Amino acid sequence: MNINIKIGNAEKTLTDMLVFYLYEDIKTVKSTLAYCDKALNSAITELIKKKEFIAKLNKTLILPTYGKIPAKRIMLVGLGTKKDVTLDKIRQAAGTTTSIARDIGIKEVTSAMDSILSEWYPAYTEGCLLSLYKFQRYKNVPAEEKKELKSLTLLLSDKKALASAREAVKHGQIIAGAVCFARDLINTPAQDKTPSVLADTAKKLAQELDIQCKVLSKAELKKLGMSGLLGVSQGSNQPPKFIILDYNPNAKNQDTIVLVGKGLTFDSGGICLKPAKDMDQMKSDMSGGAAVMGAIKAISKMNLPQRVVGLIPCTENMPSGSAIKPGDIIKLYSGKTAEVVNTDAEGRLILADALSYAEKYKPKAVIDLATLTGSCVIALGTVATGMLGNNEELKKRVKIAGEKSWERVWELPLWEEYQEQIKSDIADIKNIGGSYAGAITAACFLSKFTEKYPWVHLDIAGTSWCDKNSAYTQKGATGVGVRLLVQLIQHWTRFPK
Ligand code: BES
Ligand code: ZN
Ligand code: ZN
Repeated sequence: MNINIKIGNAEKTLTDMLVFYLYEDIKTVKSTLAYCDKALNSAITELIKKKEFIAKLNKTLILPTYGKIPAKRIMLVGLGTKKDVTLDKIRQAAGTTTSIARDIGIKEVTSAMDSILSEWYPAYTEGCLLSLYKFQRYKNVPAEEKKELKSLTLLLSDKKALASAREAVKHGQIIAGAVCFARDLINTPAQDKTPSVLADTAKKLAQELDIQCKVLSKAELKKLGMSGLLGVSQGSNQPPKFIILDYNPNAKNQDTIVLVGKGLTFDSGGICLKPAKDMDQMKSDMSGGAAVMGAIKAISKMNLPQRVVGLIPCTENMPSGSAIKPGDIIKLYSGKTAEVVNTDAEGRLILADALSYAEKYKPKAVIDLATLTGSCVIALGTVATGMLGNNEELKKRVKIAGEKSWERVWELPLWEEYQEQIKSDIADIKNIGGSYAGAITAACFLSKFTEKYPWVHLDIAGTSWCDKNSAYTQKGATGVGVRLLVQLIQHWTRFPK
C-alpha cells in the first residue's frame, strides 16, 4: 500500500472513504469534521448524541455521503477516552481503519489527521501496514476474492508539518516492512527455510542493505569447536549454518551491540520427540533469528549510528540414528561441558556457542532473543516476553523500549539459588533444571556464557506466535522483537562502562 501525505480540506477531498478519529469523551464535532457534518445535515452530531456511535477504541461506523461532499463515504473510528490514549491505541485504531477498508473492498482511503498528533505518525503508519499483512505464498486466491487497499492519504491542515510527517511516516514504513519480513520468514514452512535457505536470505539481505554478512559452514563450525550447534544439528540431513550480519556505520563514539537470535528452523524435540499436537508450530522456533534479521534491516535503513552485529545459529532439531542422545556430553565453544539430559532443550546449546562467540566483538551490550521455553509461556502467557539478564542498566533500557514499542517485557529473577538446578554430576552443567522455574533455569544455562559483557535474554516463546487475529496482528507469526530492538537502538546513548 502506498502512503501519501497531503495538505487540504477534508470537505473538499474526493476519496472513496474519508476517515475521522474521535475520542469517546469529546461529544462535539470539531474542525474539519464539523464542515462535513454540516454538509450532511448534522448526521454525525445526531449519531453521537443518540449514542449510535460511541467512540470506544476500535469501534467504527461507516456512512454514505450521497454526494453531499466529494468523499463517497465517511468512516468514524473510536480512540477511547482522550486521557487514556496511548501509542498502541493509535496503532490499533490505524490497523482497524485499513483492515476494514480492505475487507469491504475499498481501494483508496483518506485519513483526516486532526486528532492524531504528529509524534504518533510512526505508530499510526505501523498499525496501517501491519494490519494488512497476509501470508499468502502458498494459497491460490481467486482473482475476485483478492482485496487490496492500494493507497492511503494522510490529510493534514498545516503545511509546516509536512516535512516532519514525511520523515515520521518513512520510519513507520521501514519498521513495518521489517516486521513483515520477519513474519514471512517465521510463517514459511520448515521445508522452505532450511538453515541453508536462511543463510542465503541473510546474504541477500546484506547485499540489499550494503552491509557485511558471513556464513560459517559446518566445516568451519567444526574447526571452531561449536559443538552446541553441531550437536543439535547432527540428527538432521540439513547442515547447520551460523549467520553473522554486521552493520557497522563507523560512526564516531558508536557502541557495538550484539543481537543473538535462536535459529531453530524446526524443533521436533529430537530423540526426546515432542507430542504431535501443535508440533507444526515449531517451524516458528527461529523467531528470534527472524527478529534479529528484521531489526538489522530496519536499523540499517534508518542509518542509525551504532554498530549492530547479528549472530544467528541455524539448525533443525531432528531424531535419527545420528541424532544426539539423552546423556551425551558436549564440549561447547567456550570449553565448558554440558550434559544433554533432554534433547528438546536444544536452544540453549546453540545459543551458548553464539553467546561465547559474541565476546570477540567486545560488545557494550548483548541481547538474545529466543523461543526458549514452554515454561515462559505458562508464566507470562502471550502478552509479555520474559526478560532476564546480568545488568540493571541494560534491563532498564530494554524494559523502556518494550513499553514504548508495546512489545512489553517482564523480568524474571536470575538469582544465584536457581543455578543449583543445572548442576551436573558428570559435566560442568546439564541442559535442563527440572520441572520448576524452567524459563529461569534456561537463562541460568545461558548466563554461564555471558559473564564478559552486559547481557539481556528475551524469552519470546509466548509472544512470537498468536492464535487469533487482532487490530494489527494476524494468526501466526507476530514478528515480536523487531519493534523493541529498533526502538532500543534508535534511542541508544553511550553505555556506561
Ligand atoms: N522451542 C521450544 C520452546 C517453545 C515451546 C517455543 C512452546 C514455543 C512454544 C524449546 O526448544 C523446548 O522444547 N523447550 C523445552 C525445554 C524442556 C525440555 C526443559 C520446554 O520448554 O518444554
Ligand atoms: Zn526444544
Ligand atoms: Zn526449541
